[in-house]
Amino acid sequence: MERTRWYKEAAVYQIYPFSFMDSNNDGWGDIPGIISKLDYVRDLGVDAIWFSPLYESPLKDYGYDISDYRKINPIFGTMEDFDRLLEECHARGLRVIMDMVINHTSDQHEWFRKALESPDSPYRDYYIFAKGKKKGDKLLPPTNWQSSFTGTAWERVGDTDDFYLHLFCREQPDLNWENPKVRDEIVDILNFWLEKGVDGFRFDVFNMFSKVYPLRDDTTRQRQKGTMYYVDGPRIHEFVNELYERALSHYDTFTVGESYTPSEADALRYVDEGCRELDTIFDFAHFSSDSIGGLKFFPKPFNMKQFKEGLFGASKKYREKGWSTLVLENHDSPRSVCRFGIDSKKYRYEAATCLAAATFLGFGIPFIYEGEELGLTNTDFRSMDELKDPVSHFVYDLMRSYGIPKGIAFRFIKYGARDHARVPMQWDSSVNGGFNAGAEPWQRVHQDCRTLNAESDLAAGDRSVYRFYQKMLKLRKERKDAFIYGELTEYGREDRRVISYLREGETEGCLVIGNLSKRKVRFTVPDTGVRLGELLLANYPDAPVLPEPGAKILLRPYETLVYGGKK
Ligand code: GLC
Repeated sequence: MERTRWYKEAAVYQIYPFSFMDSNNDGWGDIPGIISKLDYVRDLGVDAIWFSPLYESPLKDYGYDISDYRKINPIFGTMEDFDRLLEECHARGLRVIMDMVINHTSDQHEWFRKALESPDSPYRDYYIFAKGKKKGDKLLPPTNWQSSFTGTAWERVGDTDDFYLHLFCREQPDLNWENPKVRDEIVDILNFWLEKGVDGFRFDVFNMFSKVYPLRDDTTRQRQKGTMYYVDGPRIHEFVNELYERALSHYDTFTVGESYTPSEADALRYVDEGCRELDTIFDFAHFSSDSIGGLKFFPKPFNMKQFKEGLFGASKKYREKGWSTLVLENHDSPRSVCRFGIDSKKYRYEAATCLAAATFLGFGIPFIYEGEELGLTNTDFRSMDELKDPVSHFVYDLMRSYGIPKGIAFRFIKYGARDHARVPMQWDSSVNGGFNAGAEPWQRVHQDCRTLNAESDLAAGDRSVYRFYQKMLKLRKERKDAFIYGELTEYGREDRRVISYLREGETEGCLVIGNLSKRKVRFTVPDTGVRLGELLLANYPDAPVLPEPGAKILLRPYETLVYGGKK
C-alpha cells in the first residue's frame, strides 16, 4: 500500500461552526472564535480540521443548504476572516477540509431562484423538475420517492403541474448532475477553494448525485421509497471521476465522501486508488448496532456483533484497495457515550476512552467530533421547543400523525436527535460554559456545561478524556507500522462484551483490548504470535502486565488495555 499521501497518517477534527466559539457574543459561533481555539485543537494531536459548511446559507438545514458557494456566511465573519483561519490553521500544521454540499443547493441560491422564474429559464435544467401525475382531480407527485427527512421528495411549484425533487428539506432542491453545465459550475467552485489553498473536501451525501432516468415509482417494499433509483446511481462513478480529473487531481487534496448505505462493490470503487474517485468514504454501518434499521430515533438493545462487523468489516475491505475512516460521532449523531448500551452516568471517563481506543486504533483515519475528546454527554432537552434541528421536528410530527402520544414521541426524538451534537461547545466554568460572554446562544447549552467542559476535563489529570485522546493519537503515529499500515486481526468475534484485535506491521505488533460493558469480564489472552511486553495505553491506573496466551485477565468495567512489542 502506497505510503506517500499525507492523509493516510492523519487524524481529523470536525468543527460545527455555529457551536464552537462565539467571539462577538451574538449567540452564534464564528471564525474569530474558532481561531482563538486552534491551539486546543492542534494540541490534541490531529492533523486536519473538517469544517461543517461555512458558506452563505438561509439555515433551513443549518448550512447544509448553501445559497452561495463562494461566500462566507456573515454569521461566521468575512472572507478575510476565512483567509486568516486558513493561514492560522496552516501555521499550526493543520490542514483545512471544507464541507461540500453539492447534491442540492438552497432554494435561495441564485440558480434556483432563476429556475423558478420561468419554465423556459436555462436554470430550470440545473434542477430536477417533472410533471405531476394526474389521478382524477388530484395531482400526485411525479414519483413516490420519499425525502430522507420524511414525506414526499417532491414539492409542487405554485399551482402549476410541475414539481421539483428534494431528497432532503423542501428548501434543498436536488441538482441535476446530468446537465454538463451543472458539473462545470461545481468544478469551478472546487477550483475556487483549492486555489485559495484548502486541502480537501468532505462531500455531503455524494452517492446520491446520479439518478435513474426516466424517473419512476419504487414498487419494492423498501421503507424509504426511491433509494434504489438514486443511491449509487448509474453515472455516479463517472461524475466523481470527473471532479477528480478536472479539479481534485491538480492539487494535493484529500477527499472523503459521506455515503448513504453504499453497495459493497460501489464502496470499493469509490475508495479504490486506481479508480481516481475519492480517497475514502464514511460508512456508518456500525451505527445500526443500537438503532432499528440505522434510524437513530428508534433504539434497540446494543448489538456488539453488528458494531464490530460494521466497524471492522468495511475498513478491512477498503484496505485492500484504498483507505478507510473511523467515526463515533459527527454533527448528525447523538453523543457516543450515551449510545452503544453505555452507562455514562457511572463510567463516563472509562467508557469514552474505551470506545475511543477500540475504534480509533483500528484501520483508517480517525474523525473526532468537537467535544467527543472530552467525553461530552447528551443534553437533557426538556421540550420540542428546545430542539433546533428541522429533522427532529419532521420526525416528531410524523410520529404524532400516527397517533403516537406526545411524551413518547419526544422520548424517541430525544434519544436520537442531531441537536445533541450541536449544543454550544463546553469550554469552562463561566457563563454558557465559556461559549461566549453571556448572550443567549442560538441553541440551548448543555445542563452541565459549567462543570463538564474542557477546563474541568484537563484538570482531571489521569482521568482526562482529552489527555487520553492525546496519548492515543500520539501512539498511532509512534507505532504507525502497526496502527496505521498494519494488518488487523480480530479475536473473539462472537464476544458480546470485549473488542480485541491485533494490529501487526512488518516490525511490530500491538494488541488492543476493550471491555465495552459495565460488568467485570474474564478475558482469555489470545495467541498473537507477537511478544507483547510493553503496556502502551490504559484507562485504569494499575493495569496488569500481559500474561501468557491462554491465561485469563479480569477486565474492569470499560477497561481498555493496549500492549505492544517489536517483532
Ligand atoms: C448530510 C449532512 C446532514 C445534512 C444532509 C443534507 O447527511 O451530514 O447534516 O442534513 O446531508 O445535506
